[in-house]
Amino acid sequence: MPASQPARITVAPSILAADFARLQDEVAAIEAAGADWLHLDVMDGHFVPNMSFGPPILRSLRSRTRLPFDVHLMIAPVDPFVEAFAEAGADHMLVHPEAGPHLHRTLQLIRSHGKRAGVVLNPATPVESIAWVLDLVDIILVMSVNPGFGGQAFLPSQLPKIAALRRMIGDSGRSIALSVDGGITPETAPHVIGAGADTLVAGTAVFGAPDYAAAIAALRGEGPAG
Ligand code: DX5
Ligand code: ZN
Repeated sequence: MPASQPARITVAPSILAADFARLQDEVAAIEAAGADWLHLDVMDGHFVPNMSFGPPILRSLRSRTRLPFDVHLMIAPVDPFVEAFAEAGADHMLVHPEAGPHLHRTLQLIRSHGKRAGVVLNPATPVESIAWVLDLVDIILVMSVNPGFGGQAFLPSQLPKIAALRRMIGDSGRSIALSVDGGITPETAPHVIGAGADTLVAGTAVFGAPDYAAAIAALRGEGPAG
């Protein structure tokens, strides 16, 4: 592994791949299995061609887990819903620059609620789109698939983008998490970590595995003995 690899990789399982009829148990299971954050994919059927869930699901789960809620907002417009997600229990709110005309204002709005603010870059979105708002950014999320669905194949074209963002974060001198979402498996994880990512979002690779603890350890590059 390159010298840039962080001491410990943050793993954020996406409940999009969980059994929604048993959501409380699923969340408890991944918490016990060593997950760091809970990734919640909010989709509106408009910004992305799929629908998932909204604030009521966050509110229901909030008292059932200590995991930070890493809320990926695939909705447009997004600003009118920031308050509702903040009140429902979001800890991190991640928005796409394409979701509204004023990214700077959206990030200010998220931070005004005391939440960590993130920007999500679609496969075609250039790194330059966040260059002048980095002072408001706590998390950068690189999409390594087109957003909207779980279970898609990882796009290796995003690896140089991850490396470029790692350099941008280093130059900024700020503490910004660099996360990657889509097609993350024990096979693709070493590549994104090698490119400079410190956080992995994974749906299928965790909830589709028989042993959640082993699946999370495998994403971190830890062997069966941990
Ligand atoms: C896709 C979502 C992802 C998705 C990842 O739009 O943002 O978080 O749940 O699913 P996998 O890990 O199966 O690619
Ligand atoms: Zn996501």
